[in-house]
Amino acid sequence: ESNSFATDFVSSLSVDTLTLQKQIDELSTFSDTPAPSVTRILYSEKDVLARRYIKHLMTLAGLTVREDIVGNIFGRWTGHEAELAPVATGSHIDAIPYSGKYDGVVGVLGAIEAINVLKRSVLLNSLCKSLVVNEIGVCILMLGLSRYLDVEVIWYIDQFSFGLSCADWNFNRYGFKPKRSLEVIMFTSEEPTRFGISCLGSRLLAGSEALAKDLMSTVDSQNISFLDAARSAGYAKEQDDLSSTSIGIVTAIAAPASLKVDFEGNGGHAGAVLMPKRNDAGLAAAELALAVEKHVLDSGSVDTVGTVGILELHPGAINSIPSKSHLEIDTRDIDEKRRNIVVEKIHQSAVSIAKTRGVVLSEFKIINQDPPALSEKLIIEAAEAASKELNLTHKLMISRAYHDSLFMARVSPMGMIFIPCYKGYSHKPEEYASGQDIANGVKVLALTLAKLSLQ
Ligand code: GLV
Ligand code: MN
Ligand code: MN
Repeated sequence: ESNSFATDFVSSLSVDTLTLQKQIDELSTFSDTPAPSVTRILYSEKDVLARRYIKHLMTLAGLTVREDIVGNIFGRWTGHEAELAPVATGSHIDAIPYSGKYDGVVGVLGAIEAINVLKRSVLLNSLCKSLVVNEIGVCILMLGLSRYLDVEVIWYIDQFSFGLSCADWNFNRYGFKPKRSLEVIMFTSEEPTRFGISCLGSRLLAGSEALAKDLMSTVDSQNISFLDAARSAGYAKEQDDLSSTSIGIVTAIAAPASLKVDFEGNGGHAGAVLMPKRNDAGLAAAELALAVEKHVLDSGSVDTVGTVGILELHPGAINSIPSKSHLEIDTRDIDEKRRNIVVEKIHQSAVSIAKTRGVVLSEFKIINQDPPALSEKLIIEAAEAASKELNLTHKLMISRAYHDSLFMARVSPMGMIFIPCYKGYSHKPEEYASGQDIANGVKVLALTLAKLSLQ
């Protein structure tokens, strides 16, 4: 069948693990916090340097590099039928405060290496086949880092994104020549750290005009506008219309939502104001945090999760009753309806806590409330077959973390490949994936790409 390869092709796929590890280590030095932690915030000086490094590696791999207005970076291997929809694979390199060096990074560097793997591969002339391409559009296969802790076997990573696709190649004895162009994508700001919205680049690529509009007036916690920040990094120079970044690419995942909540009370002196007289905005926040946990647990499914990752009190002095509090809440589920019920219950709790505590619920804002996305059967099957042919065991799993693929799935079939990582750790400095596991992932990505190219 068209998508199974001879063993000599499969065994010619070789990953340069040492170089890849060196690149991962090198990229981790572009950080605003000390090693082993990594902090790389959108459009910061370190982010700009890291972007330059990625573009350099893309160029070394022979890819043609281009950036869009918000800094999504595309490295293209032009196919000989360049007018066809390209096949893309990618991930992100921004890192939340004090995280590790693999999340996203493996998906970008691993994708560049997968291109190198294909370029080095050897296909004998006898393997030439007539190539049939289904019109399925562009596919992206994302290699994901799943932070999902399975009972014994711990899996991972969205380190790799793979782009995958419906490309096909002409073969000769020197390796692939893509027919559809292949593209590695480095998505801008998969993490919501700076401007509060996750998967910023991929949402725009998927055509979110509402986001493009919002960004015109979005500021960070230092009151720096998105546009100023983008301009300082060399983007958003010519036009202000961010929706001009639409390009079609793809991927897959669980349903995330995030909320911002503010309470306001009267504050006062920690000694002078007696307890019955207080309306403590801090206690309202604490109570809401516990309510989030309760509503999540009440869903009855382990798939429902909720986190209060930010809780700030104002003025933040030991002897002052908090007059203001701010919470940011992340809740997710593989079941969108169940997740929405949790969001609604959190809202009801916020209203009733404000009432009983005599504080004002000055803000209850849903930042995003996204549906889940399903991987494409075709891509799942190709990745499974690739794993088998490479003698690697595999399992089917869902991604509880979100990825740019969640949004790319809106415009194209998608799939993701995960690799194992140490204890399933992510978003902390202890995050680690072995060179061997990364290399296995890159190989499966390369072979999956090759297979899809023949569909
Ligand atoms: C991505 O980093 C996520 O929070 O799932
Ligand atoms: Mn992450
Ligand atoms: Mn990630």
